[in-house]
Amino acid sequence: MKVGIVGLGYVGLTTGLVIASKGHEVIGIDIDDKKVKMLNAGRIPFYEPGLEELLRKALDSKLFIATTNYDAIRDAEIIFISVGTPSRDDGSIDLSFIESSSTMIGKALKGSSDYHLIVVKSTVTPGTTRNIVGRIIAKVSGKKLGDELGLCMNPEFLREGSALYDTLNPDKVIIGELDEKSGEKLYEFWYEFYRDDTEYLRTTLENAELIKYAINSFLATKISYINMLANICEKIPNCDIGVIARGMGLDKRINPAFFGAGLGFGGSCFPKDLRALIAFSKQSINYDPLILEATLKINEKQALHAIEIMKRELNDLHGREITILGLSYKPNTDDIREAVSIRIINELLRLGAKIRVYDPKAMKNIKRIYGDSLIYHNSAYDALDKSEAVIIVTEWNEFRKLKPKDFLRMKKPVVIDGRRILLDKLEEFRRLGIKYYTIGHYFEL
Ligand code: UDX
Repeated sequence: MKVGIVGLGYVGLTTGLVIASKGHEVIGIDIDDKKVKMLNAGRIPFYEPGLEELLRKALDSKLFIATTNYDAIRDAEIIFISVGTPSRDDGSIDLSFIESSSTMIGKALKGSSDYHLIVVKSTVTPGTTRNIVGRIIAKVSGKKLGDELGLCMNPEFLREGSALYDTLNPDKVIIGELDEKSGEKLYEFWYEFYRDDTEYLRTTLENAELIKYAINSFLATKISYINMLANICEKIPNCDIGVIARGMGLDKRINPAFFGAGLGFGGSCFPKDLRALIAFSKQSINYDPLILEATLKINEKQALHAIEIMKRELNDLHGREITILGLSYKPNTDDIREAVSIRIINELLRLGAKIRVYDPKAMKNIKRIYGDSLIYHNSAYDALDKSEAVIIVTEWNEFRKLKPKDFLRMKKPVVIDGRRILLDKLEEFRRLGIKYYTIGHYFEL
């Protein structure tokens, strides 16, 4: 089968390459000429384990090609839309790429006598697939929705860093469908991949759109909830959030996943999706989603909590040498979009600190933003040397391996472990006279 993928970001590229790996012919469309050339040369524009090998295999077997020319999808049976849906300044969703790609798909399909199924994979607010994508493509192509043009909404749940694994092993496939014919076609397509190893839910377009927001905002709320409790724990002798989370997870009604307390969530999805759902609720249906607003507010404060702890030790941070270990928004990625590190760096710069940074993968991306304002190091050890305080922002494995004595190279070590990865070495830190603080663990100052 010939499949078109419009938008070759994380979601589009991974989906396209997995589909190609099963023997379908995949045409990838992107407006970015540089990206298209790079992909056709076998290189991925971001770091994602396993994806480049898959791209090379797909190129070798001629089952994948990237192009900027929409006409290439004219004879595709299924066309996935996976363009970006960024935030506008007021947090609401910016649908301009959805609109422009729909227009281009409509133009490409004009005059085609075949049935084409359009599948929205991008995260979009309820009503977008039917009222914007469906309407634009039908109008521009001159084809009738239903008989000549199918329409589905099929949200994607892959995580960066494990994009391939998640796409090959989804726990659910959500299919929002305009009609039975569209839904059946997409269901059969995915059933061929996943058989009975996953759950399928077929529903309306709007339910599918909202399920994506519901899952992401619920997971974000779990993180803010546990971080709120972590802040309570810090004030109660003998309390630790790790044990509280474990205890909660023993209750069969509560799933323990996403209860990792820390400096909060970042990335290209959670913050953006929360803001989009809040703006949609307020602007389009006149409803105040109070829990979501609290989730966002707690998260914004949580990053700076590390600096509050530090200030209690060092008072004035002006001119102080502070190390940040970990810049990417989570481990195993070089992505720094909405990363906690950025909020911490901005605040430290405002306070006049000298900031020394190290990350295994994200240095280039951070340098692009901050240039000469930061001091860059090639290893955690160099970044710690003679520094006065350190914040561990991202839980990279190589930071988990740090030993308390490694921090003795600091001037007068204050360690703020923003991800609780060295807590099991607390006694050793104390023995060496190192001030060690972590999120959600009682500490006396
Ligand atoms: C997320 C969703 O998991 C995925 O389904 C969706 O399609 C896109 O958004 P991703 O952004 O790749 O995926 O990251 P994820 O691994 O889910 O982590 C999101 C953020 O939450 C990270 O900043 C992470 O550090 C943070 N997090 C996660 C916590 O702070 N605590 C946790 O327990 C889990």
